[in-house]
Amino acid sequence: MSKFPKDFLWGGATAANQYEGAWNVDGKGDSIADHYTAGSRTTPKRVTIKYEEGTLYPSWEAVDFYHRYKEDIALAAEMGFKIFRMSINWTRIYPTGEEDVPNESGLQFYDDVFDELKKYNIEPLVTIYHYEMPYHLVEKYNGWSNRKLIDYYVKYASTLFERYKDKVKYWLTFNEINSCIMPSGGALSLGLIQNYEGPLFTSPNTIGERYQGVHHQLIASAKVVKLAHEKYPHFKMGCMNIYAAKYPYTCNPDDVVLCQKVNQEMNWLVADVQVRGYYPSFSKRFFEENKIHIIKEKRDDEILAEGKVDIYTCSYYLSACESADSKVTTYSPGNVIGGVTNPYLKSSQWGWQIDPKGLRYALNDIYDRYQIPIMVVENGLGAEDKIDEDGAIHDEYRIDYLKKHIQQMEEAIQDGVDLIGYTPWGCIDLVSASTGEMKKRYGFVYVDKHDDGTGTLNRSKKDSFYWYQKVIKTNGEDLD
Ligand code: BG6
Repeated sequence: MSKFPKDFLWGGATAANQYEGAWNVDGKGDSIADHYTAGSRTTPKRVTIKYEEGTLYPSWEAVDFYHRYKEDIALAAEMGFKIFRMSINWTRIYPTGEEDVPNESGLQFYDDVFDELKKYNIEPLVTIYHYEMPYHLVEKYNGWSNRKLIDYYVKYASTLFERYKDKVKYWLTFNEINSCIMPSGGALSLGLIQNYEGPLFTSPNTIGERYQGVHHQLIASAKVVKLAHEKYPHFKMGCMNIYAAKYPYTCNPDDVVLCQKVNQEMNWLVADVQVRGYYPSFSKRFFEENKIHIIKEKRDDEILAEGKVDIYTCSYYLSACESADSKVTTYSPGNVIGGVTNPYLKSSQWGWQIDPKGLRYALNDIYDRYQIPIMVVENGLGAEDKIDEDGAIHDEYRIDYLKKHIQQMEEAIQDGVDLIGYTPWGCIDLVSASTGEMKKRYGFVYVDKHDDGTGTLNRSKKDSFYWYQKVIKTNGEDLD
């Protein structure tokens, strides 16, 4: 007997800047992600202010969902998807962010995508903001450091709500909003890179700037959640957090307390504001000790309290340890967030530590704390795929990763967690966010596109495609 609820939302996840391509057509504006060059695990991707001739910008073409959405949605339907996570590219709707009138061709594109999903009864799950904003707002205002961004975001989100109110029910306000805890999140999520050129993830910003920026995002999020609740009561509004399970490296109380602190900052601080409607009590000391002085307007606390989300969602790829001992220096990277290497775990080719049980642990902690429905909206294994002599891609490593994580979700459901959906990341191969590579693949569907920008963009099914199809068909009962 399947342990998953009968209406469990199985699906897959994507994001516009890594997936759509068509970066300069039909009135689309210049987006921050269009300024990122390709990189690799060893060579950091860069941001350039002007486009350099002869340099590859992976977002420009990505894997061309823009022109191939019918084919991709048909593939998703063939796997049996109930839900499809995608983001809207702000610059298709408001090219610079400052226009008063939205770009009709951009709006029409997403209408077409939603209609196509509807044909197969696939529910869209829309991220309003996934590591993407008009580059104009970066240049003019230094991204989310400026409070004006709140109004631009609210205008953009309100346009989406009104236009798609009959087509979209599930909305996420900001992807991985708590990535602000790391300097890399300052660039990627907050756009604090005005006049900056160089490696993206080491662009300069301070912790104070990042928390000010995320405060603006939290206000923007709360405002649109409130608007949705008032005007579109059928919407389900969600937050989206980057979640990494954290363990003390040893049972030394120093490690345990440090781990608790890191966990509070990383996994709870920002989520608490979105779910509970206020900054948690531990944030006071954390802000004081880090000399973070958030400038708030008079009504800010009320606004936060008025815009609490309905569902909690997160990405989950890995876990990491915390050690108070300065001699412990083995470090494992992750998506924005890494930590001390756990000797009990294996790592992916990109060094991320694989920990399915950490997902059960995480889901229990999240649900104990918030008691609202949860979706895991990103999870998966970034791996190089080889086309075999028989022309197929036998990605048993990916199946193994996903299977073990699904088993742990099943455990969590039996533990009492109200888990309502699962959308593994990059269900159709797309560009990597951290490195800009194509060869770091997550998909059930292989896309013929390579790191040098070549490839036919043809889609083909990996072994994991058929496996996931069976998983969905049996509602998670048959995982072999
Ligand atoms: C998440 C992001 O952090 O991780 C995605 O929301 C990203 O945009 C995913 O693609 C996987 O990371 P990467 O670097 O392997 O693409």
